[in-house]
Amino acid sequence: MKRSTKKNTRRTFIKQHLLSGAGTMLGIHSVSSLLDGEPSKGMDIPTLPAHSPVSGQQQPQWVKWPQWDIAADEPPVVEVLRSGVWSRAKVVEQFEAAWAKTIGAKACVTTVNGTNAMICALANLEIGGGDEVIIPPYTFIATPQAVLQTGAMPVFVDTDPETFQMDVSKIEAKITPLTRAILPVHIAGIPCDIEAIMKIAKKHKLVVVEDSCQAWLSEVNHKKVGTFGNAGCFSFQNSKNIPMGEGGAIVSDDEQLIDRCYSYHNYGIAHASMVAKHGAGMSMLGTKLRLTEYQAAIGLAQLKRLDAQTTIRANNAAYLKSRLEAIPGIIPYKLYDHVTRVSFHLFPFRYKKEAFKGLPRAAFLKALSAEGVPCSSGYTTLNTQPFLANAFQSKNFKRMYSSKMLDINKYRERNHCPQNDILCNEEAVWFTQNILLGSRADMDYIISAIEKIYKKQKILRN
Ligand SMILES: Cc1ncc(COP(=O)(O)O)c(C=O)c1O
Repeated sequence: MKRSTKKNTRRTFIKQHLLSGAGTMLGIHSVSSLLDGEPSKGMDIPTLPAHSPVSGQQQPQWVKWPQWDIAADEPPVVEVLRSGVWSRAKVVEQFEAAWAKTIGAKACVTTVNGTNAMICALANLEIGGGDEVIIPPYTFIATPQAVLQTGAMPVFVDTDPETFQMDVSKIEAKITPLTRAILPVHIAGIPCDIEAIMKIAKKHKLVVVEDSCQAWLSEVNHKKVGTFGNAGCFSFQNSKNIPMGEGGAIVSDDEQLIDRCYSYHNYGIAHASMVAKHGAGMSMLGTKLRLTEYQAAIGLAQLKRLDAQTTIRANNAAYLKSRLEAIPGIIPYKLYDHVTRVSFHLFPFRYKKEAFKGLPRAAFLKALSAEGVPCSSGYTTLNTQPFLANAFQSKNFKRMYSSKMLDINKYRERNHCPQNDILCNEEAVWFTQNILLGSRADMDYIISAIEKIYKKQKILRN
């Protein structure tokens, strides 16, 4: 495992790893206040007594991300750079073949990022204006934005706080005559209850596009997530477990769908089976979403590490979970039955302040950061954010939907997700994937740090 040799201050480290991590740049909650070491405005956060690092243990040098092995990774990338063939060509094709094989799907097309992979998949499954798409609120901003970009209306289904995933028991109540698709997210890389979702989708004849943007190699019953729905979408953004800087992919067993997506991602120039259907040339609606050769070369280098690193993360996560759940008030994620592998882009747990004598989560995070453990409060409540009202006020939305459907107050009522509000506003805490690449001693350090805060808080409040 490569570790940083550069001497970073804790503050620089947290800044670098939290702000670039986990697809969290926009969805993150209260990180800036943690970085500044100041409580959020208007909040009265009690502070703990002056800290000393976890006694007797060396503060870990957390694993740096992304990783780059100069000797092994650079030659193929340099070869691409020197070739002058930088636009989509053979290396992108090679990556697509490798990714389809890795995920166990018949076909794959890459895109500029995961967001546009979802837009492309939805659009080519004919999701658009006037349609409703069911999504979870506990996700990155890209999920609802992808739905809105197609012209469809996102409908939020509350979160199961135990798993951090969409609560399947609440889906059917949200289905209306306008519902056309479900866009489930495997958040943190933890599979959502995709088998149950597929049953509901089949019953109601809905399309399913899996947001697998954090779930490379995650499995249910030994089948990779991203292969259950009509299409699965992945992200290779810099913080991701297989990073390229930016990049995305759509996989599917429906080869005609991938051909349509390919045509769409290349200005609508008909490709493969689409030629027979539409004729050659620029015969379809499209845009440009092509990956470059050097991104694909970086992706192929990263792919070599993905399987082994996924195992390391999963082993560390299982150990952390087993130890953290013994601490009162710390409730790590739960997995659904049949989950056979988890990519762990994040390690999420719930913090119950009652067990910490009422210490608010922001103060807990501040104390944990002060111990040198990078952590965050994760996503904000997406279903309450102003981007929705902004979309509803747009010319396109006004033309596509009735004023009743675009009434933002009524929309907020229909899309109220109380469990998710608690998770986002009070309880969720995350560690990012690079932390899970550390040693057993690093995991022990995290456990000791939380135990220390628990004991200190108990003494302080008693
Ligand atoms: C759950 C989720 N969906 C979608 C995306 C969008 O991927 P990208 O950043 O590659 O557009 C991300 C990545 O940040 C994500 O975490």
